[in-house]
Amino acid sequence: MDGNGRWAKRKSLPRIFGHREGVRTIKEIVEAANSLGIRILTLYAFSTENWKRPKSEIKSLFSLIRRFIRKELKGLNDLGIRLRILGDLSKFPESIRTEIENACIITSRNIKFELNIALNYGARQELIRAFEIMIRQGIKKPTEEMLSSFLYTYGQPDPDLLIRTSGELRVSNFLLWQIAYSEIYVTDKLWPDFTRDDLKTAIVAFQKRRRRFGGL
Ligand code: IPE
Ligand code: MG
Repeated sequence: MDGNGRWAKRKSLPRIFGHREGVRTIKEIVEAANSLGIRILTLYAFSTENWKRPKSEIKSLFSLIRRFIRKELKGLNDLGIRLRILGDLSKFPESIRTEIENACIITSRNIKFELNIALNYGARQELIRAFEIMIRQGIKKPTEEMLSSFLYTYGQPDPDLLIRTSGELRVSNFLLWQIAYSEIYVTDKLWPDFTRDDLKTAIVAFQKRRRRFGGL
């Protein structure tokens, strides 16, 4: 979900206004994805590298995340959405952490749609964590399936489509293992400007791709 800061800058507003608008987009896109029949959506909300940002921006981001969960939990649950967090929550303030974990527990029986929110997420950190678990369990000959089962996305298929907003052509430490064969779609739209129709356009582009998975 890239481009919140630039969206605000273009309007001569403080960056936090862009993040606020970005939360509105989250709501629209989650509802659109759900009604289009998508089963799993992952949103990259806060990376392990985002700690480098000014404290005030980090604080605002956390409070937006918390507000989103507080405000939308019931609606998400009513839509049959299961919430899962990808990332290490231990660095978050205790109160936010409990609230987020509760939201995951409350929605844990939903099966229609899985909403992953990557928070304090980094794919390298996720892989190291998986290696640590395997070492602890004495696994000496890991298989691909085994490794996948120790990632935050355990039990979920690899993503078909990776959408990157704001025109950046990089992966930024996102789901490195899981996106091995994902189709990548880049749009110049900044995240706050990304709409339900943009999501549809991305999906139509995806449907036209011929996926060969290394075959012919
Ligand atoms: C949102 O966009 C991503 C988050 C970390 C929430 P940015 O804050 O990276 O926006 P730009 O890249 O400055 O435009
Ligand atoms: Mg950015």
